[in-house]
Amino acid sequence: MSSASEQVISGLEGVLACESSVAFIDGNIPELSYRGYNIHDIAETLTYEQVVYLLWYDELPSPEQLHTFRNDLAARRGIPSVVIDLLRLMPASAHPMAGLRTAVSLLGTLDPQADDNSPADLHRKAADLTAKIPTIVAVQARLQMGQAPIEPDASLSLAGNYHYMLTGKRPDTTITRTIDTSLLLYAEHETNASTFTCRAVVGTESDYYSAVVAGIGAIKGPLHGGAIDEVMRMFLEIDQPERAGAYLDQALAAKRKISGFGHRVYRAGDARAPHLRAMAERLAEATGDRKWFTIATTVEQHMRQAKGIIANVDYYAAPVLYHLGFPLALFTNFVASARISGWSAHIFEQYANNRLIRPRALYTGHRGRQLPADYQ
Ligand code: COA
Repeated sequence: MSSASEQVISGLEGVLACESSVAFIDGNIPELSYRGYNIHDIAETLTYEQVVYLLWYDELPSPEQLHTFRNDLAARRGIPSVVIDLLRLMPASAHPMAGLRTAVSLLGTLDPQADDNSPADLHRKAADLTAKIPTIVAVQARLQMGQAPIEPDASLSLAGNYHYMLTGKRPDTTITRTIDTSLLLYAEHETNASTFTCRAVVGTESDYYSAVVAGIGAIKGPLHGGAIDEVMRMFLEIDQPERAGAYLDQALAAKRKISGFGHRVYRAGDARAPHLRAMAERLAEATGDRKWFTIATTVEQHMRQAKGIIANVDYYAAPVLYHLGFPLALFTNFVASARISGWSAHIFEQYANNRLIRPRALYTGHRGRQLPADYQ
């Protein structure tokens, strides 16, 4: 029997594991803010670069600061040819998140300052990966589509260039805004599993790249960022809106978790979801292809009636990325390419006020066993 003080908090639910001033979530309202600014104002007004600056420096950039910051990020977008060679060598059967994880790890080995954990060098590394990960993901997408990678264009915003590297086309303002908003909605989310993983790695005073590689490994899972791919696969499998109800009934009867629903912290709705829902609807209108939005709203309605469980950020992000022409297998890579900014903000915070993260386990195994005298 364990005493009350020895109770395990399953999944660390509700446990306050550290102090942080990056993001605030109240899952009952729902409320989400980055550095004190409400996500709804941010989503309607700011660009991704402004959000990254805010997350890292705790203040909105002045026009001059933004100009310098944007130029610095833009200048860092190119990736070494050895990274492209590595991506070409990866077997087609490898998970694209495994490819991203490996590519980032290679970038770490190429950085002579990899083990410099000073604030200035951490900011340099964060700018480097925030700029380079979208390039890696675009190269992965181009190779998967059997097309040659496209060099980044430093004259475009991070969002605009992302689309350009993916398609070879210069995006209009609507597409750029859609990518910008998707990136900033995914940028940060407090101590989610991947961010906590990054902080745990920093807790040992290991290096920035090791923390990010571990974060990529954590966000890959289908209960976290990996859910977004599963959502779109479900919509493709349903294929016709009139099949949505039966599909869901069958899946719930089989006790399957439905990707894109539920959240550990949000109980009354995901603060980010309405923005992605609106973008998915606008893209459905603009393209004249309402099928995926209709399937999504039908499944959401059925899920609300059957289980009362909320749609999370990944639910409407899936049709948004699909309409934008992102290859389905790379949706989670897109999520990681945005979350690098939030991971970095937490990595800075953890290095600045570090204590080894080392919880205990409630031991449930054998004790006091004796080795048999005749055991060889
Ligand atoms: N589909 C069906 N039922 C779900 C569900 C889902 N997506 N999410 C939660 N539930 C149910 C659970 O089965 C459980 O029911 P029970 O009490 O009858 O057993 C109840 O809701 C509570 O769920 P629980 O698994 O304890 O919540 P959690 O906080 O541990 O898990 C998630 C949160 C996100 C891991 C979970 O909701 C999930 O697996 N969602 C699907 C994956 C996903 O979209 N992840 C992205 C999150 S942004």
